[in-house]
Amino acid sequence: MQYPSSWRALHWVIALCVMSLIPIGLWIVARTEANLWDDLTNLLYGIHKAMGFTVLLLMGLRVAFKVFYKSPAYPDSMSRKQIIAAKGLHHLFYVLLIAVPLLGWAGVTAFPALIVFPGFDLPGFPGVPQNEALAQRLFQIHGTLAILLAFLVLGHIGAALRHLVLLKDRVFQRMWFKRR
Ligand code: HEM
Repeated sequence: MQYPSSWRALHWVIALCVMSLIPIGLWIVARTEANLWDDLTNLLYGIHKAMGFTVLLLMGLRVAFKVFYKSPAYPDSMSRKQIIAAKGLHHLFYVLLIAVPLLGWAGVTAFPALIVFPGFDLPGFPGVPQNEALAQRLFQIHGTLAILLAFLVLGHIGAALRHLVLLKDRVFQRMWFKRR
């Protein structure tokens, strides 16, 4: 059985955003450390903030899906331990995919650097004061958790491919586009 199509679409849109946000985030930090404050750096910041904030909004929808719809059952070939490990990793993804953009948003609120593109600013994170030292701390935690997320994404891709290529148990197809 597959996940509903709207759930699958949400999964792949968020996956594409996250796989773009991580290299763009690393590129931004590399450029600012090299003191490159030009149009490209500003554009990368704008794209990163807009895409990251979009992930946060989409995660709201995703949590609602998780609460209101039941995930399809795993195949009988998977052991209880494997199912617990898979579910645990998925819950960790939910936590990180909410915490990482929240910390980025809180950081740009504290800095403050809410501008995304000329004429368009993000709303401030309610209750976060303007304080540059706090912003730096928030960015540091944001970066560390984003790197942890990157490693988990690699593990997740590896596990999905193992199901597709080695185990051939149709777990991959649950989240893929083609109907069985
Ligand atoms: C799932 C969503 C997000 C992911 C995966 C992500 C990922 C990253 C990564 C990997 C870095 C580089 C960290 C480092 O090397 O220290 C970074 C930096 C940054 N991110 Fe995000 N990010 C996300 C959402 C956001 C959001 C929503 C905002 C703001 C609205 C934001 C603002 C920033 C800023 C300003 C930096 C540069 C921080 C600095 O200069 O130290 N990010 N992000």
